[in-house]
Amino acid sequence: MPIMTWDASLDIGVTAMNREHQEILDAMNRIYDAKAQGVSGSAVNDMVARLGSVCVRHFADEEAYMKQVGYPELQRHIQLHARLLDQFSGHAAAIKAAGGAPNDEFFHFLKFWLTSHIKGIDIKYSEHARAQGVA
Ligand SMILES: [Fe+2]
Ligand SMILES: [Fe+2]
Repeated sequence: MPIMTWDASLDIGVTAMNREHQEILDAMNRIYDAKAQGVSGSAVNDMVARLGSVCVRHFADEEAYMKQVGYPELQRHIQLHARLLDQFSGHAAAIKAAGGAPNDEFFHFLKFWLTSHIKGIDIKYSEHARAQGVA
């Protein structure tokens, strides 16, 4: 069972970014399912690394999109992404140290971050793009 499923509340109105957010959700759910099935070790570390690269790519794409639509809070948003990646790296290192065994804190972090960042932070560049008529 997935830890988090896509629903309309996560729709920010930018198709390409919605799709990437779903990819992040999928990569996260894969790790959650693996844990539920008792999988650990390098298979899990690989999945965590994959989630990390999906996030890195998404942040780069999102930052390019914000630049393209002239979003004034771009620098602040870039800082938030950098902080998230920092936190993510800390979790990934802890999972590795635990032999490829993510703890609840990791999933709590992911779920909270995805929900609050998409609904509270990402939505703002989408609103800006729409207000400028460039969404
Ligand atoms: Fe973002
Ligand atoms: Fe995003």
